[in-house]
Amino acid sequence: MARIQRKGDSILVRGRIFPDDLPRLCAELHRATGRKEDLNIALDFAGCTAVFQSAMLPLIPLIVHYRESHGISFDLTPPQDGELGRLFLNTNWAHHIDPQNHPPNRYPHGQVPALRFHGDGDDGQEAILERVLELILGTLDTSRDMLKAVEWSLGEIMDNVPMHAESPVGGFVQATAYAASNAVEFVVADAGIGIAASMKKEDDVEALREAITEGVTRDKERNAGNGLFGSYQVAALSGGEFEIRSNRGVLQRVAKDSLKTSRPLAPYRGTAVRCKIGLDKSGLLERALRFKGRPHDPPFDFVEREFESDSGDLVLQMSDKASLHFGSRKGGRHIRRVIRNLLRDRAAIILDFDGVGVFTSSFADEVFGRLFVSMGPRAFMTRIRMRNVDPTVEGLIDRAILQRTRLGSHEERGEDPRVVLPDDPR
Ligand SMILES: Nc1ncnc2c1ncn2[C@@H]1O[C@H](COP(=O)(O)OP(=O)(O)OP(=O)(O)O)[C@@H](O)[C@H]1O
Ligand SMILES: [Mg+2]
Repeated sequence: MARIQRKGDSILVRGRIFPDDLPRLCAELHRATGRKEDLNIALDFAGCTAVFQSAMLPLIPLIVHYRESHGISFDLTPPQDGELGRLFLNTNWAHHIDPQNHPPNRYPHGQVPALRFHGDGDDGQEAILERVLELILGTLDTSRDMLKAVEWSLGEIMDNVPMHAESPVGGFVQATAYAASNAVEFVVADAGIGIAASMKKEDDVEALREAITEGVTRDKERNAGNGLFGSYQVAALSGGEFEIRSNRGVLQRVAKDSLKTSRPLAPYRGTAVRCKIGLDKSGLLERALRFKGRPHDPPFDFVEREFESDSGDLVLQMSDKASLHFGSRKGGRHIRRVIRNLLRDRAAIILDFDGVGVFTSSFADEVFGRLFVSMGPRAFMTRIRMRNVDPTVEGLIDRAILQRTRLGSHEERGEDPRVVLPDDPR
């Protein structure tokens, strides 16, 4: 647990911050802000040694609410620990807490940083959802069905914010891909009225239990009451985790455990939902998304919207989807994984190079060289079709394949330390 100390207008947080520290953090924030306006509060995280995203992200809407509705500003001292300090910047936590001193991070790797959405018809919510799905497709192993299950769950949990929360600051989302466990975790938080108030219930814990029950909704006319039920099922059946905090209620399912509820001493003035989904369960979509006994297959999914042509072919527009990644080996690995994931459910993919004049040889090696060697020449040539390839691009692809084939399979498995390929010069 973290050590949290308040001295007047300063809050000092040291040690490791866990989700269960949230109630005390909220209480100290509440006391520090008091009833006064135009305050300046120092948030000193210098002595922090570790932080969970599910502990920090829920604080963001509260802090933004204090700033925007009560005119209170926050001075952030990020952790002294170099890596943790960078995490505060990369995740956008620093930016949302103290925007005057910290610009937003526009180039994150391996995660989608904390992003704000309002759901008032802007395309922010949709764009965030797509970033999370792109993150999964390029860093984890996933079938199309698993991707659909994530898309549906995150979409439902985000939709609930404009639909029910009455949050003055909208919602915040953050997502992280965990390569070691092939799982994705996202957290959605708002500073709204909370689940019990929305459902017109007295008891927070009881309201949370009901909210994840099939068919329970505050408004039978407009909603089906499936969003939290379905997301909970997806998380639970995937071997993942699920947690909701809303006012004085907490409901948790931590890996393999059954459902637990608790009543923290201090309220969380809003709703935060954390959902961790493992991507390795096949047939999960059909088992998890079952409403009134019938399976629900969400139509027009991300893969269809982004990669299917009118004639039903799978097409990766390289200039649009891959150009961000052309500069580096890391980018090449991302695109290789996108191709492999998309090929899991399909016989072939078309790479369209329209508008592409050049990319780095490290990118070419990671994508074409390695796919050629790992798939074998026949499968590579029948399953990966290329069109609109100009002569320079063709030369780069051929050279990458030839070089990589010469290196043989030892290096492919990373076993030959004598062979060093040139890395990206930038
Ligand atoms: N962020 C939130 N803030 C306040 N209340 C919420 C929030 N999310 C959910 N709720 C409450 O929990 C209830 C259940 O949510 P759930 O998403 O399962 O169903 P629904 O939104 O009512 O229906 P559906 O999702 O099928 O359209 C909602 O009716 C609402 O009262
Ligand atoms: Mg809903």
